[in-house]
Amino acid sequence: MTTFDVSLVRSQFPALSQTVNGQPAVFLDGPGGTQVPQRVIDAIGAYLTRANSNTHGGFLTSQRTDETIEAAHRAMADFLGCDPDEVVFGANMTSLTFMISRSIGREIHPGDEIVLTRLDHDANFSPWKALEERGALIKVVDIDIEDCTLDMDDLRRQITPKTKLVAVGYASNAVGTINDVAEVTRLAHAVGAMSYIDAVHYAPHGPIDVRAIDCDFLACSPYKFFAPHAGTLYGKREHLQRLRPYKVRPAGNEIPDRWETGTKNHEGMAGVTAAIEYLADLGQKTGATGDRRALLHSVMSTIQAYERGLVVQLISGLLEIPGLTFYGIREPERFGQRTPTVSVRVEGHTPRELAEALGERGIFTWDGNYYALNLTERLGVEERGGMLRIGLVHYNTAEEVDRLLAALGEIATGR
Ligand SMILES: Cc1ncc(COP(=O)(O)O)c(C=O)c1O
Repeated sequence: MTTFDVSLVRSQFPALSQTVNGQPAVFLDGPGGTQVPQRVIDAIGAYLTRANSNTHGGFLTSQRTDETIEAAHRAMADFLGCDPDEVVFGANMTSLTFMISRSIGREIHPGDEIVLTRLDHDANFSPWKALEERGALIKVVDIDIEDCTLDMDDLRRQITPKTKLVAVGYASNAVGTINDVAEVTRLAHAVGAMSYIDAVHYAPHGPIDVRAIDCDFLACSPYKFFAPHAGTLYGKREHLQRLRPYKVRPAGNEIPDRWETGTKNHEGMAGVTAAIEYLADLGQKTGATGDRRALLHSVMSTIQAYERGLVVQLISGLLEIPGLTFYGIREPERFGQRTPTVSVRVEGHTPRELAEALGERGIFTWDGNYYALNLTERLGVEERGGMLRIGLVHYNTAEEVDRLLAALGEIATGR
């Protein structure tokens, strides 16, 4: 296989063969979490069977646990383009971000400024807003509500010589907008501030290169890219070494240990490595060559191209549904600026009603604000049930998009 073979992909994900009311399930809930390939399930089982232990012991299962942890750091380093000890594992992105914001808060002085955005998930907002307790001044960048893109002029205005940190999403988990995070980082660095990138939504949809972005931190959650529930954080070595974590005394003071508080989710880490291996393997099957980093970079570009085709079909079909309001970038020539995640409302139905009607037909979508609370408030939909979110990933098919469009069309027109 030298092209993208979606049936080969799907055959590796056992969850995708489930049915609902006699219909094959359609998983359009990826932005909330993705399904996992069989090898991830096997890796978790294998860890628990052969290696289950705590760390740094003088016996076999403990040594295997140490190897499992090291392998997971190497795998994520290849995914992100950094060194293994610049990867911190944690429970999820939210917890990791609260942890880092608390540590950065130790260096914040009254009058220091932090720049946030209205487009972000609340996990890249509230942990920073909490630093108001330390006297930080929080500034919030607005969006253009016509296409749900970040107002870059406003961002430039909000960054001042007092700015200590700019926190921005790589892509919006609600409307799919991709932000120019390298440019945001450049603007932050120009005033001596750090950048904190939330790549949770972007990660399953395209290659990430933290060195090219030059960001100071970048967080993402493997459960959004075909791995088990876990969170990961890239931090520049100098920051992970300099900042002071809140930690227990006997725990190691080296990086990344000093940031990985308590006993880790070892079986989850085994699953993360297996998910990265799955992606690298898919890279090889789609014709890529080179080391694992090269395979990952290539496969994520292949996935991006495949998803681009699906989102063209999805958005053009949605725009034909009577009474449908579409939020976000809709022009095909601008689809390089978005992920295949879209949010809509349909006149006469709450988003929950739509999600339930689709759910009865075996089609899984999300409704509400998906924690992008500033955005739903800015769009004026928070009080009205938010929006219906349809999220595609690389295991979705053109037939599934057709099923969604037909079903939503029926519900919208009451047929
Ligand atoms: C863009 C974005 N950021 C942050 C989060 C929070 O991630 P976690 O569940 O790992 O805390 C999510 C989860 O949906 C998300 O979509």
